[in-house]
This record gives sequence, structure tokens and C-alpha cells, in this order.
Amino acid sequence: MSDSKKPLRSQAWFGQRNKSGFIYRSWLKNQGHPNDSFTGRPVIGICNTWSDLTPCNAHFRDLAEWVKRGVYEAGGMPLEFPVMSLGEPLMRPTAMLFRNLASMDVEESIRANPLDGIVLLTGCDKTTPATLMGAASVDLPTIVVSGGPMLNGKYEGREIGSGTDLWKFSEDLRCDRMSYEEFQNAESCMARSIGHCMTMGTASTMACMVEALGLTLPGGAAIPAADSRRRRLAQLSGRRIVTMVQEDTLLSKIVTRASLENAIMVNASIGGSTNFIVHLLAIAGRLGLPLSLDDFDQLGSKLPLLLNLMPSGEFLMEDFFYAGGLPAVIRELLPKLHQEVLTVNGKSVKENNQHAECYNSKVIRSADDPVVAEAGIAVLRGNLCESGAIIKPSAASPTLMNHRGRAVVFENIDDYHRRIDDPDLEIDASSVMVLKNVGPKGYPGMAEVGNMGLPKKLLDQGVRDMVRISDGRMSGTAFGTVVLHGAPEAAVGGNLALVRDGDFITLNVSKRQLSLDISEAELQSRRRQWKPAPPHASRGYLGLFLKEVEQADTGVDFTFLKGGSGSAAPRDSH
Ligand code: FES
Repeated sequence: MSDSKKPLRSQAWFGQRNKSGFIYRSWLKNQGHPNDSFTGRPVIGICNTWSDLTPCNAHFRDLAEWVKRGVYEAGGMPLEFPVMSLGEPLMRPTAMLFRNLASMDVEESIRANPLDGIVLLTGCDKTTPATLMGAASVDLPTIVVSGGPMLNGKYEGREIGSGTDLWKFSEDLRCDRMSYEEFQNAESCMARSIGHCMTMGTASTMACMVEALGLTLPGGAAIPAADSRRRRLAQLSGRRIVTMVQEDTLLSKIVTRASLENAIMVNASIGGSTNFIVHLLAIAGRLGLPLSLDDFDQLGSKLPLLLNLMPSGEFLMEDFFYAGGLPAVIRELLPKLHQEVLTVNGKSVKENNQHAECYNSKVIRSADDPVVAEAGIAVLRGNLCESGAIIKPSAASPTLMNHRGRAVVFENIDDYHRRIDDPDLEIDASSVMVLKNVGPKGYPGMAEVGNMGLPKKLLDQGVRDMVRISDGRMSGTAFGTVVLHGAPEAAVGGNLALVRDGDFITLNVSKRQLSLDISEAELQSRRRQWKPAPPHASRGYLGLFLKEVEQADTGVDFTFLKGGSGSAAPRDSH
């Protein structure tokens, strides 16, 4: 049934007329498959990140059934398999610690099994990059079906956004502007349907990233999880992956340097999460494609912010879908994009999006009337971040983008929690908060704590933003003048480790500068006195992580996972 000249990979298992073939076919027949399931139908692996522990992906068993329906309709044979699922809200110390582990699970599960094409079911933040990194290291025909955002949060007659309003509620609770009962009620109002966070947080950013890369059927990113059109997308993706196998459309034919550049430009125009950077760098690394931190600044920082979504704007993903979804943004950006790059439906970016309509110009603005004229990510350099740091200008306060202030230093996250609300803490609105040891090795796992909450005494005075600097990440739903991903991190001896209380720090975003205003001689003197903290672990996965993880400027992947090992069928197991 395959049109491809290449024999199906799965036939290395099912096509054998011997004892091994018997084993490969017979045990699967216990699920009722007839003989002709094994005689040349493309076998489609549905890589499912379902888990009750990943609430954003808890509807994926249903979604997988719709993918299967499409695969059967197109003449393929679907086989669903579970992989490690990464639930952002529950996993400690941070789901990011396990992104590379999950990617290894995906890579090896695909390669070890008789699969010809892959459908990745992804939703909660890390599930998208983890599965895509693993699939990229195998490089079979691959299509992504994201799980869709939750419906808009509704609280006391107004819209509330995942995460974004949580930061506000938690500060209201700390300042007694909100009771605990009201706080609990808000919990129920925020996550009121299936799906992932419905702000332009990391999950929505990742869904838009895969659509911008060409890995999702057009318009897929914004469809709410609860909308029946999400099931239709799954069904159509099931049909399409069978054809992709027949056409031998490998993942590496879709994800190229040009499509990476498109994704960076689209991310700037939607106000996407800063987490996009580490994930795209890691995905590019798996495919051996050149991509550096500076590409994000050069390609994205001069582009307009078109999408008016929280945390940078007012609306939510449901509004984005009704306004036309990502195709309406891409159409507006087309003159700047690589228009001819191939996408999973066999058409180019231009063909897919050139006739997209915008139905609500308050949500999706035109290039002539953007939310912010220059958005994207700014990459900072200086003696405080020798390998770079980043800031998201659209989420920052314009008045703080050029700022010099006195450092108030927290040596680690425990130190921060212990002292932040100490009435005697010497800090005012002009101070620069510095948080060390929350990077890849320091936390460990590079937790989303970079947007550290402000001291209660300043909140009480009405202060709502301050310059904050760390080697960690921040949630895509968060906001503020927050410098993130400082590299090298403090735990490996980056200059961030050498900052002391009272030092002056200069942030100048327009000049892309972040500097610690002390002499080189003083810096060297402090360096000689610096001693690394003992590692968090020496055994198990954490031991491996600490040994192998790279810094933020290259994607926080493991050194030994760069590149791929291909899709050749391993030797027989019998
Ligand atoms: Fe899962 Fe936000 S917690 S997407």
C-alpha cells in the first residue's frame, strides 16, 4: 500500500517469513489485528504524553482515538505508546530537569519499534520540546498534534489567564488584598476545562512554534482543547501522517534553518515565552542545524508584537482562535518569512497562510498598528553574562529598560525565601534583585523562579516591578523586567557568582548591555576566593544531568544527545 520507493521500515519486523516474523506479528494479533495489517500498511506510532499527573494532557487518550481514526481511514495501522510525561504544575524540583530524560525515552521508543511515521501528542510546556527532540534524533516522518489551550478563565465577571493572574493573586494574598477563600475560588475559575495554559505561556508558545516550523496542520495551535475542531485536527493529522510516510517526508525535510528562522520571527510577533529559546536551540542541536543565541536577537528583536495576549497583552488563546489563529499572524508576517518552506501538509508556508483572515483586530493587530513596535527577545552581553542573558522587552517596564541600581543578592532560592519579606532587608524600588544558583546545575534543572516576587514591604508601597537578574528561567505566563538565562551560571563560576550586596549593576536593553560595575582587578580577586558548592548528587539521573547538561546559551541539552542516531532498524531481538 506504500507509494514510497523505500521499503517500509516496519517491514524489517513484520515482513519476515520466519520465527522472528511470527513473534513480531503474533503477539500484536492478541489485539485483533488481521493478517493484512502487517503486509505493507504504514505503521504509525502515536507518541502519547497522557498522564493524570500532567493535567494539561489528561484528555490525550481521547485525542489519540481520533488520530487512530484518521490513520485507519488512510490505510495505515496506528499503534499508540506512552512516554514519560512532564507535568509542569506538579513535578519537583522542576519539569525542566526531566526534559532531556523524556526526550531519550521518546527517541529510543521510536527507534526500537516497528514504526514508519510518528504523531506526537503534546501539550504541557516540556512535553513538546522533549518529544520533538527525541523524534528529531530518529528523523522519521513526524507530525505534531498539540492538545489545545483551556477555555478562558472567568473570575468574578472578568477574564483571568493561567499563571499571569496567579502571580497577581498571590501578591494580593500576601498583602491581604485577597482572602484565602477567594484565592481558592480563583483556582477553580482559572483551570475550568481540559487543555493547557491559555495565556501565551510556554505551552501556547510551543504549540505556535510547531505550527510555525511547519510540523502541525495549519491553524492547529490555537484551537481550544474543548472545541470539537481539536478532534478533527487529530483525525486529519492521522490521515496526513500516512501520506507523509508514503511520500517519505522526513522531519528533517520540514525543520530546516529556514523554518527555524520562521519560528523565531513568529515567536517575536506573538510575544512568545522566553523558554522558546532553550527549546529551539536544543531541537536545532538534535538536527545538526546551526542556531545561536544571537539569531534570536538579530531575527526577532526588530519585529512588531502583533498578538495582544497575556502576559504581554489583554486577551487569551480562546480569543486568539476566534480572531483567526496563527495563520492570521503568519499572513501579516509573510513578507519577512521564508515563504516557500515546506510544511507537513505538503504545501508551503505561503500557500497555507496567504489567504488567512483576521476577525478581530483588537486581538491580532496589523503590522501598521502593532501592540509594540519592536518585540522579540533581546540578548544581553557584558561581564555579568559572558555567554549571554536574555530579556523579553514586551513583558518588561519601559522605565526600567535602562537602569542602574544597587544589587540585593540572594545566594540561592532558599536564601531568597528566607529573607525576601524580612522588614530589615535593605532594598528599595531602584535596587536590582540578583538570584544566584537557579541555573541548569545550580537549582538543578533551571527552574522558573527568575521572576522572583517583590518584597512585601515594597508591594505595600505600590511597587509592581523591579529589575531582577538570575541564571534561571521564568514561566512563559510571567512578566516584569526580568533578566534570565544568565550564562555561564553561578554554579559553574560565571561572574554572577561574584556579585555582592551593594555592587552597582547597569542594564541597558537598547545597548544590549548587562554589567557589574566593579574593576577587573576586584573581579579577579573575588574569583580567586570563590568555591563551587558540592554537587546536588553524584548518582542516578541527577548525577548524569549534572555531569552532562549544557548551559542555557546552547539549549540545556546533554552533550551526548546532540545530533541523531537515525532510524535504521536495530538487529532482531530473537
Ligand atoms: Fe501545563 Fe501551563 S501548566 S501548560
